[in-house]
Amino acid sequence: MLNNELIFQPPIIAHRGASAFAPENTLVAFYKAKLMGVNWVEFDVMLTADDEVVVIHDEKLNRTTNGSGYVINHTLLDLQKLDAGSWFDPTFKGEKIPTLIEVIDLLNQLKLSANIEIKAQQGKEELTVKKVLSIILEQWKNNHSKPLISSFSLQILEYVRKYSSTSLLGFLMDEWDEEWKKICDRLNCTAVNVNYKILTLERVQSIKSTKRKLLAYTVNTAKLAKQLFSWGIDGIFSDCPEKILRSLVTPVPVK
Ligand code: G3P
Ligand code: MG
Repeated sequence: MLNNELIFQPPIIAHRGASAFAPENTLVAFYKAKLMGVNWVEFDVMLTADDEVVVIHDEKLNRTTNGSGYVINHTLLDLQKLDAGSWFDPTFKGEKIPTLIEVIDLLNQLKLSANIEIKAQQGKEELTVKKVLSIILEQWKNNHSKPLISSFSLQILEYVRKYSSTSLLGFLMDEWDEEWKKICDRLNCTAVNVNYKILTLERVQSIKSTKRKLLAYTVNTAKLAKQLFSWGIDGIFSDCPEKILRSLVTPVPVK
C-alpha cells in the first residue's frame, strides 16, 4: 500500500541546505535552513575510498572544497582535512565535508527531516545503499518523519527496496520517463521528485492522480513557486527557502 505519511509544511525543502546562504551540504547550511523556518532539507551522499558515507554533491572535490580528484579515491580522514567552506565565502573557512552520521545527528537535534539523495559511483551501488540504510537505522531519532530516500539511479532505488521494505522512496526525474508510473508502482515510491523544467499541468495532474507526493527542483523564484503550487505540487526544493517562504505570505503576480 502507498505510504503517504509525508507532510511538507511549509512546502519548501532546503536544497543542499540553505545553499544560497552557506556552503552547500555542510552542517552550517542545514543549521541555516532551520533558522529560515523550514522542516525539511535535501542533501546528497556518496561513499569514500574506505566505505564511509559522506555528504557532498559532486563526485569530484574541485568545486566545493580545496581538494581535487574523486571523492571515491579519498579516505574519510583525507576528506576531513579539506576546507569545504572557503570556496563559497571566506567567512565559512574551516567548514568540513560532513559524514552522514554527523548530519543525521544535527537533524535529530534540530528536529529536521531529510530527503537523502544517494549518488553512488558505478559498481558501488549496493554497498552504498547498505551503508546508508544501516546508518539511518542506527542514527535516525527524528520521529516526526522518516527520511525520504531518492536517487536518479534505478539500480539504487531497487537496492533500497530490496533491503528495506519500509523505506520511503522518491523517484527522481531530470528527463521525463514515460515508465515513471510503472516503476513507482513496482518500487512502491511515495514521492516523485521532478525537475520543474519538465513539468506541465497535465504531468502534475497525472502524478497527483496516483496519490503520490510531487516535489519539484530547483525552484529559486517566488513567481515560479507560485505557479507550481497553483498546479498542485506538494513541495519545492529551493536554495533560498526564506525568500520563497516570505512570498507565500506576500502576493506575487503570476503572469
Ligand atoms: O533531489 C533534488 C535535486 O537535488 C536533484 O539534483 O543535482 O541538485 O542533486 P541535484
Ligand atoms: Mg540532490
